[in-house]
Amino acid sequence: MPQQSPIIAPSILSANFAKLGSEVDAVVKAGAQWIHFDVMDNHYVPNLTVGAMVCRSLREYGITVPIDVHLMVKPVDNLIKDFANAGADYISFHPDATDNISGSIQLIHNHQIKAGLVLNPDVPAEILDPFFDQVDLILVMSVYPGFAGQAFIPEVLQKVKALRQRIDAQKRSIRLSIDGGINIETAALAAAAGADTFVAGSAIFKTPNYAKTITAFKNIINQAAN
Ligand code: DX5
Ligand code: ZN
Repeated sequence: MPQQSPIIAPSILSANFAKLGSEVDAVVKAGAQWIHFDVMDNHYVPNLTVGAMVCRSLREYGITVPIDVHLMVKPVDNLIKDFANAGADYISFHPDATDNISGSIQLIHNHQIKAGLVLNPDVPAEILDPFFDQVDLILVMSVYPGFAGQAFIPEVLQKVKALRQRIDAQKRSIRLSIDGGINIETAALAAAAGADTFVAGSAIFKTPNYAKTITAFKNIINQAAN
């Protein structure tokens, strides 16, 4: 499959939760195509965020762009159902957070939404082999999950390159997303390696002008990908 057009997915983790609706609205108006929704349970990762009610609230507030849910929870199946019913478009989970990876992917697909698997920095791409024909998105972590604002781990770029080749070699489209420490410089590196979806928390929400930031992201990614 030819590489798909780039998507910027701001992570709500770095937004001001006291005004989440208007924050999300603002990044969408500034050009973000998706919203990345980080769900942490203080068990699978040592941090706690928000659940499906908040996803539902964003829909009720009027957010219509795809919501890309990143589950950092264990187990996953109950929350898959909750987020599917709360308006998620993509749900991704970590393979070691379920006893039945294919079953959890199937559960996502049963709700007519797209399924992703997440690779931590130290997890090799080969772990995806049995599931390659089942996933719609691969989320490559470029930090260890749990917190926003960490430094990008450059060693994951080799994995992005290898995954890009495998995705290009097969017929179905799969989004190749990168998450963690993404800023203008690291987005360029990830784009050159073949990522097509860019999750960024701090590098967007901690800047004063979202439109300027997201436009800069798009320009650098387009340059790097060509
Ligand atoms: C990390 C989360 C990321 C994170 C990104 O556990 O999955 O989505 O919030 O934040 P930044 O872009 O600040 O690294
Ligand atoms: Zn995430």
